[in-house]
Amino acid sequence: MRIIVTKDYEDMSKKAAAIIAAQVAEKPDCVLGLATGSTPIGTYKNLVEWYENGSLDFSQVRTVNLDEYRGLPRDNDQSYYYFMHDNLFNHVNIDEANTNVPDGTNPDADAECARYEALIASYGGQDLQLLGLGHNGHIGFNEPAQEFDKTTHCVDLQESTIEANKRFFASADDVPKQAYTMGIGTIMKAKKILVVANGEGKADIVAKAFFGPVTPEVPASILQFHPNVTIVVDEAAASKLPR
Ligand code: GLP
Repeated sequence: MRIIVTKDYEDMSKKAAAIIAAQVAEKPDCVLGLATGSTPIGTYKNLVEWYENGSLDFSQVRTVNLDEYRGLPRDNDQSYYYFMHDNLFNHVNIDEANTNVPDGTNPDADAECARYEALIASYGGQDLQLLGLGHNGHIGFNEPAQEFDKTTHCVDLQESTIEANKRFFASADDVPKQAYTMGIGTIMKAKKILVVANGEGKADIVAKAFFGPVTPEVPASILQFHPNVTIVVDEAAASKLPR
């Protein structure tokens, strides 16, 4: 586990983008596992800039996103499909056919999750998986639980997650109650993992996830067992790490 502490959000975003850019340069047809949430927005901004100035080529890159709300149509501006197009895909030369987000509109949860898991396997898994961190330690939408979920599955979102995400919706009632998400096993199979976190609000969970006991009650803690994890956090999010 490598921890990179940056001055602020901008610096975190630049360093995280540089790690992703290095992956694309090293393997132009790499499989990137991508994340949503407010944390990676700056990372995607840097990637778009580097594409625009000719330093990055996405023409062969394939992507698999972590998760999607169940039931939200793709054109809903809170769907993760919409988010990815808005923040990255529409601004770089990626082939739409090479981008993948679970289909939240497929009412058959088992079929959709099995299709998505098989798709990731057919790609040979993620070369690099980008992850944000929920306040309760969730990664993707793998909520604290009694055990680690292995493969892509349908989850009931926790009250605290609905509360945290309601800022993007008209009200908490409008936040979908379920999501399709890669499992912990799907995430752990990635060859490299890159975690981003910023702000004081994430300081407790960053310390707990990476220095506390490994337990499904803190889903991100499993990353302590992954052989190639880089954590890029700003000073505020790093403030409770052991010195
Ligand atoms: C959501 C996403 C996660 C994300 C988390 C943190 O619930 N499903 O993938 O990491 O929120 O979001 P933020 O980056 O906005 O703090």
